[in-house]
Amino acid sequence: DASDIEKGTYPHYMLKEIDEQPLVMRKIIQAYQNDQNELTIDADILAAMDQSDRVYIVACGTSYHAGLVGKQFIEKLAGVPVEVHVASEFVYNMPLLSEKPLFIFISQSGETADSRAVLVEVKKLGHKALTITNVPGSTLSREADYTLLLHAGPEIAVASTKAYTAQIAVLSILSAVTAKAKGRELGFDLVTELGIVATAMEALCDQKEEMEEIAREFLATTRNCFFIGRSLDYYVGLEGALKLKEISYIQAEGFAGGELKHGTIALIEEGTPVIALSTQENVDLSIRGNVKEVAARGANPCIISMKGLETEEDRFVLPAVHEILTPLVSVIPLQLISYYAALHRDCDVDKPRNLAKSVTVE
Ligand code: G6P
Repeated sequence: DASDIEKGTYPHYMLKEIDEQPLVMRKIIQAYQNDQNELTIDADILAAMDQSDRVYIVACGTSYHAGLVGKQFIEKLAGVPVEVHVASEFVYNMPLLSEKPLFIFISQSGETADSRAVLVEVKKLGHKALTITNVPGSTLSREADYTLLLHAGPEIAVASTKAYTAQIAVLSILSAVTAKAKGRELGFDLVTELGIVATAMEALCDQKEEMEEIAREFLATTRNCFFIGRSLDYYVGLEGALKLKEISYIQAEGFAGGELKHGTIALIEEGTPVIALSTQENVDLSIRGNVKEVAARGANPCIISMKGLETEEDRFVLPAVHEILTPLVSVIPLQLISYYAALHRDCDVDKPRNLAKSVTVE
């Protein structure tokens, strides 16, 4: 019950929940470790992953964005092909399924009606389903074959923050443990790397003044804002844009850097803020090329890069974490920038207009 959860000294639940993310990372590491401090997942879930020839991730909103990152983890680490679908589209327009599909429902609340409608359909077809949720005993958890919990603690603010990073962390653990069960070499220790992420998150949560400044400089009066990135950064940009539109009502969109030239660049005007993420070495040069293209057309670029890739033109540099885990840290400045943009614009941060925390109608 929301009223039971104290905001403490925080002015808003959203800010409190952003700050809780390092702790949530540590809780997740603990919750998924066995007595030997090895990451572990229930044997029946591993068997389902192992037997499946294709994973179908189904989700809505922020959880869908976590699913896009999860696809990269499952494919790159565990070697299983993955499709990611928006629940409301999947239910009326079901793709041709593989022979042995496994469904993964990602839902903070476990109550989203659009996702549940898909679960009901796939259960009718006799397929197996795993729900990744923050709420034990929720509808999607009860009706699926298996559940993995997020351990994020209650999330009250309508705009999801700690559930997103928790979903990504749990998906990384599921992928790594599946990889190990399949005898695939990871080449890194996930417990160590998630620990590094938690420390990096703490450092970012201590830099709120810089985020407030960025929000003031780029977003105080703007009508719109674009987020660009490539690969994992593109998915985080989608989430950054969603956060910004949800709570500040600024028209915000995330775009793949390479797609700009195929239409979106026409929207760039004098002063349009373009927030560019660069955390992936293999796309660093190309995203910086995109920044030059938009800047040449008058955009006001704000580059957020990662230690090791930084240049003088960057507005903010993230602490370095393992390349595959960068969404866990790059999203934090975007959450904070949205928060401060909403404050500057006098918006109701925790209860934005027209939105509900969990949408239980299709
Ligand atoms: C609503 C919320 C979003 C959330 C989405 C999916 O639209 O406002 O923040 O991402 O539902 O919710 P779920 O509980 O299924 O993750």
